[in-house]
Amino acid sequence: MAGGFVSQTPGVRNYNYKLTPKVFVTCFIGAFGGLIFGYDLGISGGVTQMEPFLEEFFPDVHRKMKSAHQNEYCRFDSQLLTLFTSSLYLAALVSSLFASTITRVFGRKWSMFLGGFTFFVGSAFNGFAQNIAMLLIGRILLGFGVGVGFANQSVPVYLSEMAPPNLRGAFNNGFQVAIIFGIVVATIINYFTAQLKGNIGWRISLGLACAKQMLQSIRGTNEVDEEFQDLIDASEESKQVKHPWKNILLPRYRPQLIITCFIPFFQQLTGINVITFYAPVLFQTLGFGSKASLLSAMVTGIIELLCTFVSVFTVDRFGRRVLFLQGGIQMLISQIAIGVMIGVKFGTVGTGNIGKTDANLIVALICIYVAGFAWSWGPLGWLVPSEISPLEIRSAAQGINVAVNMFFTFLVAQLFLTMLCHMKFRLFFFFAVFVFIMTIFIYLMLPETKNVPIEEMNRVWKAHWFWGRFIPDEAVGVSAAEMQQKSV
Ligand code: BGC
Repeated sequence: MAGGFVSQTPGVRNYNYKLTPKVFVTCFIGAFGGLIFGYDLGISGGVTQMEPFLEEFFPDVHRKMKSAHQNEYCRFDSQLLTLFTSSLYLAALVSSLFASTITRVFGRKWSMFLGGFTFFVGSAFNGFAQNIAMLLIGRILLGFGVGVGFANQSVPVYLSEMAPPNLRGAFNNGFQVAIIFGIVVATIINYFTAQLKGNIGWRISLGLACAKQMLQSIRGTNEVDEEFQDLIDASEESKQVKHPWKNILLPRYRPQLIITCFIPFFQQLTGINVITFYAPVLFQTLGFGSKASLLSAMVTGIIELLCTFVSVFTVDRFGRRVLFLQGGIQMLISQIAIGVMIGVKFGTVGTGNIGKTDANLIVALICIYVAGFAWSWGPLGWLVPSEISPLEIRSAAQGINVAVNMFFTFLVAQLFLTMLCHMKFRLFFFFAVFVFIMTIFIYLMLPETKNVPIEEMNRVWKAHWFWGRFIPDEAVGVSAAEMQQKSV
């Protein structure tokens, strides 16, 4: 069907799903957004365990890190240190709520410029930081740049809309591939800059965010303006629809509303960002040296990247449910095993030593956990919300998806180190409980959406044992555009 499917639905965006070079270029540009987001996700973890960085800004944490009599679980417990990581996501959340107003008032080009400029100033603040205030202001500005920069709002929707239904999963997964690529680049940069003497290492790591942003601005505004425009239009078009926020509260959109709230919530409650943000800190907690910790973070990043391709190549063949369920079970088992191993080695007192073999075994278990996430909740966390909603609620649904995701990214980033200090190895069981619940949720509540054209999703809901009752009979076989007309 690739290259030939034409949407028959009157009034619905009428892509004819041709995989033209222009579509590829546009997807490529869109992927840049994911790359920058990934760099931000991946860079802070390594920096927060570089000694010169801690010595300069968080001397208390540095002292605890060096102390021989310290409870291992609490070495890095500091609300200020976690705020350095988490503040970016809070700012991204707030700014994403205003993104569409900003575009309306300033126009698209100026909004993009504003996003890019904020990002640039934020990286400069971080790279040249002299005190914690400058660090935090820098992170907040980066967050505004990310939020105003639209990537998370528009790219997944664009990719899902452009793709032929039978390749939609693979196309959409490109966004996650770009995110993880950004994370891997960040861990590699951290590994090498950490070898530099003095303060220069972390300054380069943090400052480099702006080099990428400049690259994107230049490309976005000059060379491939038209494609970028297309990308933004995709989300803009859905914004032309009247009352998306009112519509989404109608009973017949209950399935989309609930699933769009729960998917990003569950994605963050897998605990993945414990690894993304704090893998180097976690590895140090387990007794690894700084260099070995950064290396291990790099390895888990590369594994996550490679395993994301498992989803790219299977999501349209085996479907979303199989990946969700298999990945969930894999994460559940590995999390329990990690908790048990850490519990046995450090107990609740948090003292003890871990031998080389056991340390390697824990790293291997973390890799198995990351692999499970990489072909399930990682890519599908962006794919499913972008494909289940018809045009008349799509902008509201995507807004909810991004906001919930950012809020829980913020919470996990802010609370993890304190939770580790208090809950100790049981923290891994805490996340395992959520993985168990979300796997059951998928099993019971998420119908299979592979290969179904977005405009025909109503049939899928109607056939579902639970959601079917919310879908009026006349909605099945009725086009999205006609439903929109009925609802006004
Ligand atoms: C999640 C991020 C996460 C990343 C890498 C994304 O899908 O939204 O929170 O850091 O995957 O694991």
